Amino acid sequence: MGNLVIIGAQWGDEGKGKIVDILAQDADFVVRYQGGSNAGHTVINERGTYVFHLIPSGILYRGVTCVIGNGVVVDPAALIEEMDHLQTKGVTIGKNLAISERAHLILPYHKAIERASEQSRGLRRIGTTGRGIGPSYADKMARIGIRVGDLLNPSLFKRKLEDNLVEMNWLLEQFHKTDPYQVDKVFDQYMGYADRLRSHVTDTALLLNRAIRKNKTLLFEGAQGTHLDVDFGTYPYVTSSSASAGGACTGTGVGPTMIDGVLGIAKAYTTRVGSGPFPTELTEEIGQRLQERGNEFGSTTGRPRRCGWFDAVLVRYAAQVNGLTSLALTKLDVLDGHREVLLCTGYRHGEKLYKDMPSDLEVLTNCQPVYQRMKGWTVSTTGTTKYNQLPVEAKRYLARIEELAQCPIDMISTGSKRAETIIIRNPLERSRRRPRH
Ligand code: IMP
Repeated sequence: MGNLVIIGAQWGDEGKGKIVDILAQDADFVVRYQGGSNAGHTVINERGTYVFHLIPSGILYRGVTCVIGNGVVVDPAALIEEMDHLQTKGVTIGKNLAISERAHLILPYHKAIERASEQSRGLRRIGTTGRGIGPSYADKMARIGIRVGDLLNPSLFKRKLEDNLVEMNWLLEQFHKTDPYQVDKVFDQYMGYADRLRSHVTDTALLLNRAIRKNKTLLFEGAQGTHLDVDFGTYPYVTSSSASAGGACTGTGVGPTMIDGVLGIAKAYTTRVGSGPFPTELTEEIGQRLQERGNEFGSTTGRPRRCGWFDAVLVRYAAQVNGLTSLALTKLDVLDGHREVLLCTGYRHGEKLYKDMPSDLEVLTNCQPVYQRMKGWTVSTTGTTKYNQLPVEAKRYLARIEELAQCPIDMISTGSKRAETIIIRNPLERSRRRPRH
């Protein structure tokens, strides 16, 4: 089988974790390539409930190696806490976890700067997860970042930390009027983390390329979603990484010619956490119903997610910029019992009708969604495992989504458990390995 990138086609929280969990059974490697512990998902299987932030959920399978790639920003405290959580639940973590020496670290001052900057933005705040993601990526691009590999070289780590704290402490004390950090304290704390992580740190780009030579199957697990991508999302209300498929290459050191398919995950409706435009948002009864039925509360911050109808403009754009080979549609059962379901096919702004995603935030904020109204279904689809058992109205809804998104649907999720899934076609089969020389 080929190498498959799995990405969110909306604003994150599409249910990628469950789909990765299903597909990981057939994979040799599961690789995170961007983001950090701002991501979060829960996997429920016969052995229990597991919460993931940084470690790919493939860790639950024997024989699967999980990789935290160079494009990820690593908060070592969060990573170690997650390792502990998994180990107390009986999950073995040893050679099956590799961390890129090139991945950048999140340091305590990143979180402090983010907190202060969000506070000072007031109503214009991004609504971040508060995990220090943006400031860590900013340092990476400003070439003052500290990398996982630096943890293993104490004198270099200390010198970089000393240099950075001169500027960061000035910013914290003088501009944000908050407490500074002491070099020695942070140094000691991070040297403790180094001891715990040392055996996992390696050149993961080499590891993955060697695996590809041996014809292993790789899954690239995207975090967040296309519309939170720093380039293609609703900028500046985005995360600070490349959450779209392209990030899988730069974030791992695996070339584009080694990728055989891209699976987009979309919910049967739309959700968003944090600030930013959301044309199909439903603020009244139906939105609340989706939130309750779909248990739409963030797994990292616990914040309620904003809910709305399925936005085909959003997903078609995701299909284009990611080169999606197919879609997995999740949480179809949450729409059960609606007399009518609406699909957004365009945006109206003044005299103009937008059929494609505008980049202009002003248009996105003030546009009116154009809806196609479809008959809903009253019977329950929860737990359905066969496409043919779906009510005809649900089939029509899915067919229209395929048409509007210009992308076939391979999988449909009808509940939170692994088994509650319709697999029309295994996306890994679709992404069969192309010949390589
Ligand atoms: P940051 O990634 O913490 O900087 O947050 C930037 C924006 O991305 C905020 O609107 C967050 O709510 C959103 N965000 C970050 N991670 C996730 C996620 O895993 N799911 C959904 N939204 C996210």
